[in-house]
Amino acid sequence: MTRDHWALNSLRSMSDEEFFLWQALIESRVGMTVGESRRSFLCTNLGVRMRELGIHDYESYYEVLVQGAPALVEPEWAILTDRLTVQETSFFRHQPSFDCLGRHLNECLMRPAIRQLNVWSVGCSTGEEPYSVAMLLQVLIESSGRSKDLFWGVMASDISIPALGKGRKGQYSERRIQQIPEMWRQKFLEPVQAGLWQFKASIREKICFAQLNIMEIEQAPYFDMDVIICQNVLIYFKKFRKRDIVARLVDKLKPGGLLILGVNELVDWQHPELVRVADPGVLAFSRKTK
Ligand SMILES: C[S@@+](CC[C@H](N)C(=O)[O-])C[C@H]1O[C@@H](n2cnc3c(N)ncnc32)[C@H](O)[C@@H]1O
Repeated sequence: MTRDHWALNSLRSMSDEEFFLWQALIESRVGMTVGESRRSFLCTNLGVRMRELGIHDYESYYEVLVQGAPALVEPEWAILTDRLTVQETSFFRHQPSFDCLGRHLNECLMRPAIRQLNVWSVGCSTGEEPYSVAMLLQVLIESSGRSKDLFWGVMASDISIPALGKGRKGQYSERRIQQIPEMWRQKFLEPVQAGLWQFKASIREKICFAQLNIMEIEQAPYFDMDVIICQNVLIYFKKFRKRDIVARLVDKLKPGGLLILGVNELVDWQHPELVRVADPGVLAFSRKTK
């Protein structure tokens, strides 16, 4: 890899054959389909990364990713994936899903036999989703009077290491936290500096952030989840992959547990162990209790 004169050499445009190879490589590794409409997005982001590495053509970069030593390839995939994935998110994104989550959690809290509650945010991006879940859970637990006899936690996973780092830090701009109700902002956040807020340690320590490729979800050491929330992650995945991933998520769910997906993310199919929640505004399912 040489850095000489890279800026002077403009990158040759990607041939159709190369595009198909890159499409297949990314899909097999990350699950995401890069359609024709995102071809220029792919070329731009590959180009930026190749410039950083001093690589001059798509073929050489492809070879690095396919044939390079694992110690080199793994961190490179982490960086590239981060550039290619969409990390847009917000607090309480899609309120009807959070209303549905709240109803389910309240039902669980009314059952004294339930002594712990575990929620998993899959594809958690920079943390807004798991913090929304944690705030909601804490408020519901407090109002149910079960703060003392219930253990709870939120798992938060994503493929992007930088996104997870931001989540762990739990710092957000003043503008971003406006999506959180005023009373909850006062309860859960504290100022760091002008225009910047951080979640208090008491809520941060309830969330465990971990890197996980959804394509390898079966390896995650999480079982018997009460709720799995996986919104706006499967949109770029092919139908057969979505079904496969949902099937693996079901294996991680407790009987009676709730799975929340993004609306319209799974159509024309339902896992045999799932029953759709009767709310047309959300795409949520509970796992049959057998
Ligand atoms: C659009 S964000 C959605 C964030 C959040 N769930 C929400 O609804 O606001 C999609 C997230 O999925 C993650 N992602 C994409 N492909 C993934 C994969 N193969 N494994 C794990 N996470 C992935 C991205 O890194 C990104 O953070």
